[in-house]
Amino acid sequence: MFTQSMRMEDTLKVGVCKELAKGEARVALTPEGVEKLISLGLSVKIETGAGLLSSYSDDDYSAAGAVIDKKRQSVLADCDLLLAVQAPDADTIKQLKSGTLLVSFIWPLQNREYVDLLMKQQVSALAMDTIPRISRAQSMDALSSMSNIAGYKAALLGAGNLDKYLPMMMTAAGTIPPAKVLVLGAGVAGLQAIATAKRLGAVVEAFDVRPVVKEQVESLGAKFVEVPIEEDNTESKGGYAKELSDRNKEKQREVIHEHVKKSDIVITTALIPGRPAPLLITKAMVEDMKAGSVIVDIAAEQGGNCEVTKPGETYHHHGVVVMGPLNIPSTLAFHASKLYSKNILSLLSLLVKDGMANLDFDDEIIANATVTHHGELISPFVKENLK
Ligand code: NAI
Repeated sequence: MFTQSMRMEDTLKVGVCKELAKGEARVALTPEGVEKLISLGLSVKIETGAGLLSSYSDDDYSAAGAVIDKKRQSVLADCDLLLAVQAPDADTIKQLKSGTLLVSFIWPLQNREYVDLLMKQQVSALAMDTIPRISRAQSMDALSSMSNIAGYKAALLGAGNLDKYLPMMMTAAGTIPPAKVLVLGAGVAGLQAIATAKRLGAVVEAFDVRPVVKEQVESLGAKFVEVPIEEDNTESKGGYAKELSDRNKEKQREVIHEHVKKSDIVITTALIPGRPAPLLITKAMVEDMKAGSVIVDIAAEQGGNCEVTKPGETYHHHGVVVMGPLNIPSTLAFHASKLYSKNILSLLSLLVKDGMANLDFDDEIIANATVTHHGELISPFVKENLK
C-alpha cells in the first residue's frame, strides 16, 4: 500500500481564513464543523470575520472551540491544514509552511500555473473538484451540493425577473395560466431547477442529451423534450455528457427553438467536462422569444449556453431578460457553507487517522483528490487530463 503519513509535531492544526475572491461570501468550515474536528483531536484557528458574510460570527466559532486570530498571516504560518472554498491566491500559498495540506476547489485542469506553484511551494493540495463521483464519495461531493444550490437559485432568479405569475391563478378578475419553464441540461443543477419551478407552480419541460435522464425528469413531474439524436452514446464513462456531432447539434437546436419560443423562462445548465459550454440557444432564437421572457444561463461561468449571455450581467436583448449569473452558491452563503463544510468533514474523516493526515494513495478518492504532494503531481485523473 502506498501511504504517506504526515506526522505533525502534535495534533494537526487546522486554519481557516477569510475568502479573498471578489463576491465570495462562503466560508470553508462552519462552527458545527469546528466541533467535529476538535472531537477528532485537531485544533482549529479561524481568522477574525471569516464566517461573517455567511452569518457565522466569531463568537459562534469561539463557542465551538476555535481560536480566533486577528492576523491572517499567523493563521497561515501556523496551520498544517488550510481549508478554503476557492483556491487561495498565490500570496496566500507563499505564506504556508512547506508540507502544508490544502483542501479547497482548485480546478487543476484550468489552472496549470497554479498547480506549478503548489508543487514549487511543496503544498499537498486536495481538490474538492477532482473527488471521483462514486457512491462512496457522495457525502464529499461538493460539486453536487453547489450545483444543487445553483439550480434552486436559477429557478428563483427566473421567477423574480419574470413579469408574470408562475402558478395558475384563479381570481375574481380572471384566470391566469401557469408560466412555462424550459430547463436545458438535467444534471444535478437542472433537476433542482425543475423541482423548484414545479414547486412554484410552473409547467416545466426539460431536455438533456443523456437519455437516462428522461425518467428522472418525468419523476419530477416535468415533460421530457424528445430530440431525435443519431449518436448511440452521448454519455462518457464517468456519467457525463459527450459533445455532439455538428449534424446532431443542428437537429437539437431546431427542436429546442420551437420550445424556447413558447417558454416564459428558459434555464440553461448544460456542461461538458473540459470543454466550453455547448451553444444551445442562438441569438436568432432569443429574438424569436416573447417579450418579457427570461433566460437564466447558469453555464455563464463556462462561456454560457446562450449566444447573447454576458457572464456576470443581466440585461435586455430584444425585450428578453438575459441573465448570466456567476458564483450562484455564494448568494446562498449560509447553507452553501454548511453543505461545503460537511463535504470537507466527510473527506477529512477518510484522511485523518489518530490526529494525523494519512494520504493513502491506494484509495481512489484520496489519490484522485490529491493534485500535488511533495512537489509532484499525484492525481491519476489530473495527470491523464493534463496530457
Ligand atoms: P454537468 O454539470 O457536467 O452537466 C450538466 C448537464 O448538462 C448534464 O446532465 C449533461 O448531460 C447536460 N448536457 C451536456 N451537453 C448538453 C447538450 N448539448 N444539451 C443538453 N444537455 C447537455 O453534470 P452534473 O450535473 O455535474 O452531473 C451529471 C451526471 O454526473 C449526473 O447526472 C450523474 O450521472 C453523474 N453524477 C454522479 C454522482 C455520483 O454518483 N456520486 C454525483 C453527481 C453526478
